[in-house]
Amino acid sequence: MEFTRRQHAARLIDSSGSMSAPQIAVAGAFMGAAVVASAAFAAGTIPNLSDSTRELARGAYLAGGLVLTVEFLLRLWLAPQTEIDPALATWPFRRRYLMSGMGIVDVLSALPVVLVLAGVASYEDVGELMLISLCKSARYVAGLGLLTQVVRNEARSLVSVLLLLMILVVLASGLMYRFEHDAQPEIFSSVPTTIWWAVVTVATVGYGDMTPATDLGRLFGGIIMILGVATFAMPAGILASGFASEMRRRNFLVTWQTVANVPLFEDLNAAEITEITRLLRPQVIPAHRVVVHHGDTGDAMYIIMSGEVEVEITPKPVRLKQGQFFGEIALLKDIERTATVITMTDCQLLAIPAADFRNLMSRHPKINEKITRQAERRLQNFGDSFTEAHH
Ligand code: CMP
Repeated sequence: MEFTRRQHAARLIDSSGSMSAPQIAVAGAFMGAAVVASAAFAAGTIPNLSDSTRELARGAYLAGGLVLTVEFLLRLWLAPQTEIDPALATWPFRRRYLMSGMGIVDVLSALPVVLVLAGVASYEDVGELMLISLCKSARYVAGLGLLTQVVRNEARSLVSVLLLLMILVVLASGLMYRFEHDAQPEIFSSVPTTIWWAVVTVATVGYGDMTPATDLGRLFGGIIMILGVATFAMPAGILASGFASEMRRRNFLVTWQTVANVPLFEDLNAAEITEITRLLRPQVIPAHRVVVHHGDTGDAMYIIMSGEVEVEITPKPVRLKQGQFFGEIALLKDIERTATVITMTDCQLLAIPAADFRNLMSRHPKINEKITRQAERRLQNFGDSFTEAHH
């Protein structure tokens, strides 16, 4: 598979996985533009600025916005190349990019400057839109992906707590209205207006714009405050435990037992397995991600602990499953990756960094022989019948 100019450009704006220096530079320029333009907008709202400062802010806003417009056009142009199979049709990918969360953020970030420069809207009308560009940082922060995953995992408990809160608020409003309406008809004028009091109280904010004056109202208000604190703390607890279990799932534990079960290590004794366990880096990779890029330099070999990957070779891609390994050829022969490897399902992989791999190969002739033999078969395209026959 030859790399086209577009594919190179697509790699440059890609931010999945560990990023190379040029990728970091490009991401930094895009994010920097979003921060500069948003800060310039915010600064521009300060009253009593001198004309020159105001001009400066507007200039920075437009410059940042132009960079974001270029970013959007690049991403739109390159949307097909960021996909696994570059031969597939172009427009469906572009449409999918435009409909994705990040695509919408990119459009809205480019929009204000385009509208202002086209003379369709004034800076004062659409300036705020620029603040949306700060959401672009989600591309670069792995933790945000974790957050959405946790919310998705815990959705059922979160929804039931939210429901409980809503019931509490509505019930409290109805009762408070009954207690206070006669004493303060202007303030507690209806149940809907009393909902404001209930929300502010349950959230333990207490602006103090609506306060009960009757004894019964105060007693009841106190009860709602205490119930509010308890109910309000629940989502925080759910999210905290959700984070903990999701983290455990992602950094699955590499135990002695799991390593001992890897076919590649079956000839090792207990002490050697203990030693190798320390070298292995667990990685959880979602389905349909590129683990190894054809043409890259090799930095690790991978063993599949669960899930399935596909090696994109012609004429027919090869599937590899639990217990098999890949990424050994580039390390063994000191050449570029000979194929692209993509996860087909969620995968748990064990990575052995290149330096540890060399160390392992020189110290364990049996493993060396197994890996070398397998690599030779693969290079001659005999496929993986050898490992398959073994398990
Ligand atoms: P490497 O060249 O480092 O990166 C791509 C990997 O794909 C390669 O190592 C092998 O592990 C794997 N691979 C290449 N060719 C084949 C093949 N014919 N059958 C199975 N796996 C292969």
